[in-house]
Amino acid sequence: GLPSAVTIYEVGPRDGLQNEQAIVPVEVKAEFVRRLVAAGLPVVEATSFVHPRWVPQLADAAELMADLGEAGRHLPVLVPNERGLDRALELGLEHIAIFGSATETFAAKNLNRTFDEQFAMFGPTVARARAAGMDVRAYVSMCFGDPWEGAVPIEQVVTAGTRLLDLGASQLSLGDTIGVATAGHVKALVAAFADAGVGTDRLAMHFHDTYGQALANTFSALQAGITTFDASAGGLGGCPYARSATGNLATEDLVWMLTGLGVDHGVDLDAVVETSVWMAGRLGRPSPSAVVRALGAA
Ligand code: HMG
Ligand code: MG
Repeated sequence: GLPSAVTIYEVGPRDGLQNEQAIVPVEVKAEFVRRLVAAGLPVVEATSFVHPRWVPQLADAAELMADLGEAGRHLPVLVPNERGLDRALELGLEHIAIFGSATETFAAKNLNRTFDEQFAMFGPTVARARAAGMDVRAYVSMCFGDPWEGAVPIEQVVTAGTRLLDLGASQLSLGDTIGVATAGHVKALVAAFADAGVGTDRLAMHFHDTYGQALANTFSALQAGITTFDASAGGLGGCPYARSATGNLATEDLVWMLTGLGVDHGVDLDAVVETSVWMAGRLGRPSPSAVVRALGAA
């Protein structure tokens, strides 16, 4: 059967807003985060401490976290290196996420590192974070396909993922950065991690909905025993360094499906829809989420 409960890991403020052309004012971002927390989302990834020239949309990361104050301390933030970690430590943050690549090309495009060099960058970052008592999540991108390299061998994804976990990360989020995964591929990847000694308790799935497969992929992952799913309110998102990356699986679409399946999630659907409609108004365009369209028409 399916798991009785899952954790939804909300990435809208980070994965969503990193990809917006317009710069969203910091007070709007803070309100977005607060509304998502109030809607019952147990984890809300707030922003990234990356180089501000690489992602100008999130250059206000320190201001945002200062604005969120005490309530923001346990919210995860993306950190690629020791410089990013220093910035997070200065603010007393407790939870970071590193983000590696399963492919050589995307490591270069997204991190300015070779495949091997990325681990040398993350190693001391994770060691220092753990010594400071932080929790560390690791993402691995391009798990199902890469816009430059095409098909990505499953063994290569398992190698990248286990190397990230071995650095000291508590959870590995398997990213379908460009949304090309299909349900059978998801099943095969989860099985390959199991063969490598990485159980579903340490895995999360991060689907983008480019080909409209994110919910089917989620169902396949649920059947395989995965209990943490990344999603983005209103289906915002994409990676500025991955051509053809579109929005994440919309949180509303995920919540709708889980509720129908009787899988507990603890999230207030109406509150998330209301938040997405509000955010879409701020961004000046409608949400791509079908559930937002169905329920959000005021
Ligand atoms: P680099 O140019 O190689 O950096 O970029 P460097 O280490 O050579 O340092 C150069 C300068 O940058 C130095 O300053 C550093 O201090 C500064 P200088 O000494 O010249 O004055 N610097 C920083 N400043 C502020 N914050 C920092 C930082 N690091 C260095 N953290 C780097 C390497 C990793 C920094 C760069 O490539 C970068 O910032 N990349 C981030 C790209 C990104 O954020 N992409 C989107 C997130 S990933 C994603 O969306 C996928 C995901 O959703 C999952 C999925 O869908 O698959 C997670
Ligand atoms: Mg993503």
